[in-house]
Amino acid sequence: MKIGVTGATGQLGRLVVEILKEKGLEESVVALVRTPQKAADLGVEAREFDYNNPNQLVGALRGIDKLILISGNELGQRATQHANVIEAAKKVGVKWVVYTSLLHADTSTLSLAPEHLATEKTLQSSGLSYTILRNGWYTENYTGSVAGAVAAGAFIGSAGEGKISSAARADFAAAIAEVVTGESHQGKIYELSGDESYTLAELAAEISKQSGKAIPYNDLPETEYAKILKSFGVPEGFADAIASWDVSASKGDLFDESHQLSKLIGKPTTPLAQTVKEALAGVK
Ligand SMILES: NC(=O)c1ccc[n+]([C@@H]2O[C@H](COP(=O)([O-])OP(=O)(O)OC[C@H]3O[C@@H](n4cnc5c(N)ncnc54)[C@H](OP(=O)(O)O)[C@@H]3O)[C@@H](O)[C@H]2O)c1
Repeated sequence: MKIGVTGATGQLGRLVVEILKEKGLEESVVALVRTPQKAADLGVEAREFDYNNPNQLVGALRGIDKLILISGNELGQRATQHANVIEAAKKVGVKWVVYTSLLHADTSTLSLAPEHLATEKTLQSSGLSYTILRNGWYTENYTGSVAGAVAAGAFIGSAGEGKISSAARADFAAAIAEVVTGESHQGKIYELSGDESYTLAELAAEISKQSGKAIPYNDLPETEYAKILKSFGVPEGFADAIASWDVSASKGDLFDESHQLSKLIGKPTTPLAQTVKEALAGVK
């Protein structure tokens, strides 16, 4: 039985491979990656796999029974790229595809949602057996800004009072590993989010508490936040996108209290305080 993991050289994919190895499945795992050299340290078989290359995808998927399709990071191209993978999976008779989608992809106002929803529909109409894991925000999306916030003396954003139910990447990776090695997940859609929900003001308060410095949260209009991100060197389109995602967060698009993630992994999700602690350890 072979388990293919796409994006295995990415941050989430690496964690998935590690957990599957811990479960004693190193002989079964196949890393499906753009650059096999980058996968050398994973200690599992690696095959070249570029979402843009349909012929290569077919060859690389031969013999794969279960496929973990980790969504790509090239915004705007992903619906086509993922459709390429699903088409190839159909051609070679992959038995089951597990796809990482977006929390509430069918109702979310996040600009990321349409690509994920398109992939979900492609998968659902493919005739393949599937499981959809609708992942909420990684806590790490915010803690990456901790150093800047501590240096500047403020945490900025446009998420207003919106509650964010994020979890650590490791929690989402554990869910993927649990699903792909478990029974009875076929045909299901899971909404995965952290057990804790917080506003960005509460996140700033946690950073203040742990750093010993007063780091207030400054809520900014979307255009102003995007402008500041650009002044930090964030590329224009990406800065606009980040600001717009915060506005979606302000509308509750990153909030979910179903606790499906902790139920799936059989333990509470990583506390916000722990991820902040790890981020601050990198700052000091
Ligand atoms: N829930 C969230 O908060 C959140 C945040 C950010 C992203 N995401 C989504 O979740 C995914 C995994 O997160 P992550 O943190 O692991 O992201 P990441 O570190 O950026 O990893 C993305 C992976 O996708 C692979 N990839 C991109 N384009 C590809 C292509 N054309 N063909 C084959 N592989 C391709 C990359 O390959 P290389 O290693 O060769 O670059 C990389 O391994 C992201 O790609 C994105 O869709 C979710």
